[in-house]
Amino acid sequence: MNYTIEKATSNDIKTIKRLLKHAGLDTSDVRWRNFFVAKNGHEIMGCIQLKQYPGVKELASLLVRKKYRGQSIGRALVSHLLTTIEKQIEKPPVYLICPQNRQSFYEQCGFYVVPNQTNLPLILLLRYTIGRFLGWRLFKTRLLAMRWDGDEHI
Ligand SMILES: CC(C)(COP(=O)(O)OP(=O)(O)OC[C@H]1O[C@@H](n2cnc3c(N)ncnc32)[C@H](O)[C@@H]1OP(=O)(O)O)[C@@H](O)C(=O)NCCC(=O)NCCS
Repeated sequence: MNYTIEKATSNDIKTIKRLLKHAGLDTSDVRWRNFFVAKNGHEIMGCIQLKQYPGVKELASLLVRKKYRGQSIGRALVSHLLTTIEKQIEKPPVYLICPQNRQSFYEQCGFYVVPNQTNLPLILLLRYTIGRFLGWRLFKTRLLAMRWDGDEHI
């Protein structure tokens, strides 16, 4: 499969939002400057974003179009993002919040489940607590908070 992973441009944002919405992922904080996209020519096959808060980084909005799943594009997007972070002066950790059924995918990418959720940075703890409550009430899905410390990646 031929594709490149590159920084998103402002032209990509409409498609990114549409793909996220279609997959039921959060579209409330979507800025093109935070995104990388996997592209096959002009087609966006998948995307990922890095949200940065003071002292905290968060991996979010990972998505691969259905027809391209299972071909390691998701893993390549995560790897690309983590490699970019390793080159930055301000280093990890990187957090993410995901449904329980994504745990093994992210473990393969070098993340681990945060052992004590109360140690999460405040901005994530709030979202995690609300998301965990709503996720369970509405979808019977448990959320996990995971963390990557920078030494290990795919
Ligand atoms: C999760 C997602 C991005 C994975 O993308 P992908 O390109 O299919 O993943 P890859 O092909 O890189 O898979 C890498 C590994 O993870 C596994 N994997 C893939 N999707 C998985 C999933 N949904 N749950 C658990 N493991 C998964 C694969 O089996 C593969 O393992 P292997 O190398 O041992 O075979 C894709 O399924 C997707 O877009 N899902 C909908 C949106 C979503 O859930 N995003 C994550 C929000 S937290």
